[in-house]
Amino acid sequence: MKVKTINISEINENSVKVVNIENKDIAIFNVDGEFYAIDDLCSHAEASLAEGEVFDCKVECPLHGAEFDLKTGEAVTLPATRPVDSYMISVENDIIYLEMNDHA
Ligand code: FES
Repeated sequence: MKVKTINISEINENSVKVVNIENKDIAIFNVDGEFYAIDDLCSHAEASLAEGEVFDCKVECPLHGAEFDLKTGEAVTLPATRPVDSYMISVENDIIYLEMNDHA
């Protein structure tokens, strides 16, 4: 299911915006003009990944430092061992759409 979110002008380059879709916070990252969307909630404990530092297309959890791949949601380093969900993004007429999985 494709869900309309925000206008690309609402996320400056190399910043992040959290949107709430179906009671789930999803962080949309703009990395050098490319958009990525993953769950905002870390898979390890209660932390907002949107508040983490982004480098090499990964985000570092601000609480314990686990790194997640922005493209896949994969947990690349400990202490997180489980991935977070990642979402396909499409942009039409400057609006960002997320492809939500059925389980989302
Ligand atoms: S809450 Fe993210 S690594 Fe612990």
